[in-house]
Amino acid sequence: MATNRSRESIAGTMEFSQQLSTTPRSDEERAAVLANPGFGNHFTDHTAVIDWNHTSDGGRWSNARIEAYGPISLDPAASVLHYGQEIFEGLKAYRHADGTVWTFRPEANAERFNASARRLALPELPVEAFVTSLKELVAADRAWVPSGDGEALYLRPFMIATEAFLGVRPAREVSYRLIASPAGNYFGGELKPVSIWLATKYARAGRGGTGEAKCGGNYAASLAAQLEAEENGCQQVLFLDPFNDNAVEELGGMNVFFVMADGTVVTPALNGNILHGITRASVIQLLKDRGLKVEERKFTLDEWRRAAENGQLREVFACGTAAVITPIGLLKTTEGDIASPALPQESLTLSIREQLLGIQTGAVADQHGWLTRLA
Ligand code: PLP
Ligand code: COI
Repeated sequence: MATNRSRESIAGTMEFSQQLSTTPRSDEERAAVLANPGFGNHFTDHTAVIDWNHTSDGGRWSNARIEAYGPISLDPAASVLHYGQEIFEGLKAYRHADGTVWTFRPEANAERFNASARRLALPELPVEAFVTSLKELVAADRAWVPSGDGEALYLRPFMIATEAFLGVRPAREVSYRLIASPAGNYFGGELKPVSIWLATKYARAGRGGTGEAKCGGNYAASLAAQLEAEENGCQQVLFLDPFNDNAVEELGGMNVFFVMADGTVVTPALNGNILHGITRASVIQLLKDRGLKVEERKFTLDEWRRAAENGQLREVFACGTAAVITPIGLLKTTEGDIASPALPQESLTLSIREQLLGIQTGAVADQHGWLTRLA
C-alpha cells in the first residue's frame, strides 16, 4: 500500500521539496560564467534528487527534492564506484526571445533513460517524474539559462547505484540526480569542420553489450581511443564494427550522417550497438519533411572511401545534443585519410543545423510539437 502511494506521488502529483541554496552565486559570478560558458565547466546553484529503494514488491521512488548543488556523500563501497552501475542522459534548455525556457523532446530522453535503466538493471523512473525534475530545476536555476547564439543550459540527468555492497547484483539503493551546466559550442570557439580519428585498436561496443545504452562504461571504454584521436590532432573518435565489414557505427558522443551527390542521405542503421540519438531521429524527420531520401543502412568504411574518391560523397556531419550538428572535414586513419569535399555555400549540414536550432530556440515553427516549456 505504502509503496503504491509513494509511486503514485512520484508518478502523479510530483511534489519536489525545495531546500534552496543559502549561498547561490552572485549576479556578477553568474554573468562571468555566462559570458564564456564553454562546455561542461560550470554548474548551476541547484540539483534535483529522487531516491529509490528496493522493496518486496519491486521498489519505490521517494523524497523528490531540489537542493543546493554540492558534493555527494557516498559510502566507499557504493556499487557504482566498483561495478559502474550508472546511466545518464543529456538534453538542453533553450531561452526563447520572450524569456521563456523550453526543452526539446524530453519524453524521448526519459524513455531512452528507461531503456538504459533496463539494460543496466536499474529501476525505471516514470517519464513524468523525469520531466518534472527538469521543470523544477530550471525553475530554481532559470537565471543560468544562457541566451547567446547556439548556447543553452545543458541538463544532465543520471542514476547511480548507491548501495554499499560488494556482491555483484543489482543495487537495492539507487539515486536519480539532475545537474545543469550552461553550455556553448561543444568543440569550443566558432563552428568549423572537425577532424575525426578512426579507432581500430579499440571498440566501444559489441554485440549484446551496452552500446545502445547511455551508460558511463561506454564512455570510459571510448577514452583510450579518444586520447589516440587527440594525439593525432582529431577532436572525436569514430567507431566501426570490424566483425561486420567495417560498418560505420558512431562517434564517441555523436551519430554520423553522409550526404550523397544524388541527394540521398545515409546514416548507419540502429543495430544494437549505436545510441538511438534524438538529434539523429529529428534530423531524419526534417530531411524527410524536405522530401529527401534517407537511408538507414549499413555503410562501410570502403563505401565511404570510394564515395569520397568518385565524387559521390558531398557532406559528412556529426549530430548530438552537445554537438548539435557539426560538419566533419576529415577522417584520419592509419591507412590513409578520407577528406570530405569543401563544404558548399548552401550546405545541407548548415541548413539542417539552422532549422533544428531554430526550432529549439523558438525562431522556427515547431511543426512536430517537439518543444516542452520548462519555465
Ligand atoms: N551517440 C553517442 C555515443 C552519444 O553520447 C550521443 C549523445 O547523447 C549521441 C549519439 C547523440 O544522441 P542525442 O542526439 O540524443 O544527444
Ligand atoms: C550529449 O550530446 O548529450 C552527450 O551525451 C555527448 C557527450 C557530451 C557525452
